[in-house]
Amino acid sequence: MTRLIGIYGASGFGREVMPIARDRYAHDDARFVFIDDDPTQAVDRANGHDILTWETFLEAGPAAGVAVAIADAPVRRMLMDRCVAAGVPICEIRASNVTVGDDVQIGEGAILQPFSSITSNIRIGRGFHANIYSYVAHDCVIGDFVTLAPGVKCNGNVNIHDFAYIGTGAILRQGTGEKPLVIGAGAVVGMGAVVTKDVAPGATVIGNPARLLEKK
Ligand SMILES: CC(C)(COP(=O)(O)OP(=O)(O)OC[C@H]1O[C@@H](n2cnc3c(N)ncnc32)[C@H](O)[C@@H]1OP(=O)(O)O)[C@@H](O)C(=O)NCCC(=O)NCCS
Repeated sequence: MTRLIGIYGASGFGREVMPIARDRYAHDDARFVFIDDDPTQAVDRANGHDILTWETFLEAGPAAGVAVAIADAPVRRMLMDRCVAAGVPICEIRASNVTVGDDVQIGEGAILQPFSSITSNIRIGRGFHANIYSYVAHDCVIGDFVTLAPGVKCNGNVNIHDFAYIGTGAILRQGTGEKPLVIGAGAVVGMGAVVTKDVAPGATVIGNPARLLEKK
């Protein structure tokens, strides 16, 4: 019997994740679809895959799993919780060339895109996204629903709290075992920032060295 694998989100990131999911979960009876509830969605196909709403996905047959490819972390949590409540398994997406070292724990629903690396002695919570060419180095502790955009360099002994977003190409200075560098919950690190000091919860920082973004 055909079993459905859904990529939640048919926008840019979801369309990047789909071929990785196809590669990872390829078997004869799998049908790969996008799930997107955006009522303004004008098309019902993307890159050869049907785009279903959540309701039509549930009606379409037994679900083998869903990966939530939505960058917005609170929405990501809501959709993962929706899957759990409906008894739909959450799948992990891990590109074939991702490297993971020793003593690494990664929570459910991670999406690890090509050329990303998680080295050793690392704890990562639920719903983690590591976009292409990003890395997490030794002894980092990462909370739930954290997002690393492409090319993020997260050096050793950094703690990133829940819902933080690290923009493209940002560099996070290494901490120490006694004093990790801390990115607070819900903080945003702008693309290209070089973070040398802790970032407060909810703050947005930009630049080199990273400073608070103050809106004019
Ligand atoms: C930092 C960020 C969140 C700010 O977004 P925002 O709140 O919408 O801010 P604005 O675009 O209004 O920019 C405010 C000011 O900061 C500047 N700025 C914005 N992002 C900046 C960055 N990363 N580095 C340096 N300056 C930046 C803008 O030029 C603007 O300057 P001005 O006031 O002199 O014109 C955003 O620019 C960013 O870097 N997002 C990450 C994008 C990313 O990595 N995407 C990955 C997709 S896979």
